[in-house]
Amino acid sequence: MTDTTKHLLIVEDESALRAAIAAQLTHRGYDVQEAGSGEDAVARLAEFAFDIIITDLRLPGIDGSAVVEAAVGRYPDIIAIVVTGYGTVKDAVEAIKRGAWDFVSKPFQIDELLHALDSAIEQRRLKSENAYLRAQLEERYRFEGIIGKSRPMTRLFQLLETVAPTNSTILITGETGTGKEVVARAIHHNGPRRMHRFVALNCSAIPETLLEAELFGHVRGAFTGASGNRQGRLEQAHKGTLFLDEVGTMSPALQMKLLRVLQEREFERVGDSHTTKVDVRVIAATNSDLGRMVAEGSFREDLFYRLNVIPVHLPPLRDRKDDIPLLVRHFLDKVVAQAVAAQDSTMRSAPRLQLSVSQEAMRRLMAYHWPGNVRQLENAIERAVAFAANRPQIDIGDLPPEIQEARETAVSVALATGVSLPEEGMDLDAFISGIERDLIRRSLERTNGNKGQAARLLGLKRTTLVEKLKRLEKQ
Ligand SMILES: Nc1ncnc2c1ncn2[C@@H]1O[C@H](COP(=O)(O)OP(=O)(O)OP(=O)(O)O)[C@@H](O)[C@H]1O
Ligand SMILES: [Mg+2]
Repeated sequence: MTDTTKHLLIVEDESALRAAIAAQLTHRGYDVQEAGSGEDAVARLAEFAFDIIITDLRLPGIDGSAVVEAAVGRYPDIIAIVVTGYGTVKDAVEAIKRGAWDFVSKPFQIDELLHALDSAIEQRRLKSENAYLRAQLEERYRFEGIIGKSRPMTRLFQLLETVAPTNSTILITGETGTGKEVVARAIHHNGPRRMHRFVALNCSAIPETLLEAELFGHVRGAFTGASGNRQGRLEQAHKGTLFLDEVGTMSPALQMKLLRVLQEREFERVGDSHTTKVDVRVIAATNSDLGRMVAEGSFREDLFYRLNVIPVHLPPLRDRKDDIPLLVRHFLDKVVAQAVAAQDSTMRSAPRLQLSVSQEAMRRLMAYHWPGNVRQLENAIERAVAFAANRPQIDIGDLPPEIQEARETAVSVALATGVSLPEEGMDLDAFISGIERDLIRRSLERTNGNKGQAARLLGLKRTTLVEKLKRLEKQ
């Protein structure tokens, strides 16, 4: 289903004027949200991919030009129209420099605004503009290749800047696809060991019996098939960084040997009596809860503390969805760059170099819960580019089916709009049961449908949860 309703944000501090414009636009079929300040507008933009923003220039706090800049910076395809007061045409020019499409001067007739909107929508349909965001993206590359300017990512960059120059052991945690390996490499490449090797070893990809030899190396005849002496990954990483991925899957015996490496910086090759000294920085990663494994006795507590000197946690993508537009832009550029590098003639035609994503598709991308995180987003974009064939703009139909079906949920809408009481009033019961339904669904998702665990997550009795489910199903 294609929803052609245009989603519009109106930013105006005079509430009566704002309500009047909103009412008119709603009447003309726009889906309108209102913001009473620049701060409010910026917060809403972080959560929702509006098609159009209409903003007063003179606002207390963050002014209209800055709102426009924030809007266009995040969504290059958004249409921004500014409303100027008497004698502020110079400011309007400034707003246009910052990415506004057009301006209307106060006082205006609603038809003037509608006309400006119609012509902007039409012209925008013909022109796809994304140079602005690309420039901004480049500016944000503090750690090359790691995209993000959400609060959790900004905090992560600060932490990485502090820890990269040191030699401390780091434990990176996070769900699958959140970028643990990218971050490990970035730490290496921004630290004093960058001139030496970054050696990765995925502990879960190698059978237990071979892992020890892989890590420590072996001497000739150490085991059947060990025909010569061989260096392990640890020695290969000498003076550089050893990245131990999925460290939670290591056997107890190996955990002990790794502990010794961390404490003494020495080890023996398998089958060797000679002790080898090594200078490595260790970065470990896991998507399991090592703290819990320690409590359950499946991971050594002393090793956990040795690894967890500096914990770096990567938040799931659903908790930083304001990074999604940037990541989408990044992956689109990557697909195009790869195609150009591969001399793919179909991709070299001009329009393909200007790939963009429709705001509607962007809304679905932002509403989806991304269990596979950034990797899943990257795959979805690659697939969408292939589906879009020669069209320059990716649309809903090009997205994988589960993402096409992603809908704004009551919780995400509440987050996006703030829990505010709209001028026209609201249906409180429907709002509350929407939120209840969302949170119950999320708790069931997180516990793979286990009602007992889901009830516990919500502080409910199991029977209460079951009753609520029955009632919500009827609604
Ligand atoms: N912040 C980011 N910016 C750009 N690309 C990213 C970012 N985070 C992850 N990626 C990309 O997503 C993919 C998955 O990242 P990575 O392999 O680092 O995840 P992971 O946490 O190690 O996952 P797993 O636990 O499944 O091994 C990679 O292609 C990576 O380049
Ligand atoms: Mg990984």
